[in-house]
Amino acid sequence: MQNALGAGQSVLVLGGGSDIGLATVRRLVADRTRTVVLAARSPQRLAGVAAELRPAGATTVELVDWDADDTDTSVQVIDAVFDTYGDIDLVLVTAGVLGDESVTQRVPAEAVKVLHTNFVAAAAAILATVNRMRAQGHGTVVVLSSVAGERVRADNLVYGSSKAGLDGFCQGLADSLVGTGVRVLVVRPGFVTTSMTAHLQPRPMATTADAVAAAIVAGIGGNAPTVWVPGKLRPVMAAMRHLPRPVFRRLKA
Ligand SMILES: NC(=O)c1ccc[n+]([C@@H]2O[C@H](COP(=O)([O-])OP(=O)(O)OC[C@H]3O[C@@H](n4cnc5c(N)ncnc54)[C@H](OP(=O)(O)O)[C@@H]3O)[C@@H](O)[C@H]2O)c1
Repeated sequence: MQNALGAGQSVLVLGGGSDIGLATVRRLVADRTRTVVLAARSPQRLAGVAAELRPAGATTVELVDWDADDTDTSVQVIDAVFDTYGDIDLVLVTAGVLGDESVTQRVPAEAVKVLHTNFVAAAAAILATVNRMRAQGHGTVVVLSSVAGERVRADNLVYGSSKAGLDGFCQGLADSLVGTGVRVLVVRPGFVTTSMTAHLQPRPMATTADAVAAAIVAGIGGNAPTVWVPGKLRPVMAAMRHLPRPVFRRLKA
């Protein structure tokens, strides 16, 4: 169950090896979260993380084999986690791929992979989660969207549109859940220095996984439906959204 600040005792991370997800879990465990389920491809890679979380305060750390792309099995795994642990207070949906736009913008099958993982497969996992949270009568789903989805740029149109789809889906879903006790929190980071972006030059206002984690934990304790990281991206993107197309096209970063 959640305390007055919204912090939960149990968390399931869908994309358990994500740098942002793990930074968030570390903060949650340092607060009061005791049950941690990390769902990931090749979960054995996370044995070291599990060994770190237990002395930090987690009483249960479970590693579960989960591939978002296989949506039928993904839903079964999520159901099995809820069946095993009863109430899950918080689910972090962090699985995502960046893709290589020089490839995905030319090769349809490669574009489909990114669109599928970031939007279709994520939406299936989120729906499965929300169904179980409705049944238990409470819970928060934190979904990693991106500023890239706020206004899709030509240079990352495949990734950006995948996040735009996911973001729109989650906004509508959040509105449909008002009054149910279930909440969807959409997180829109800018450039974050993680494994996903290690090969890229940081963009202006780049931030860290731990800064995103801090914003997520604060967002869980608040009421806003959306979290921007860093927060100053919110007015920047509000202005960006309304730029005329010919001006927007000429922007570089
Ligand atoms: N880093 C940024 O600049 C940034 C900015 C805005 C939003 N985001 C979003 O934040 C989320 C977390 O990203 P991150 O920066 O923490 O990167 P990350 O460390 O690379 O985490 C992404 C995770 O997604 C997992 N994943 C990918 N496809 C999967 C699948 N089919 N099934 C299960 N897991 C899958 C990866 O697992 P494997 O290790 O098995 O590949 C990886 O652990 C992503 O959704 C990303 O789009 C990131």
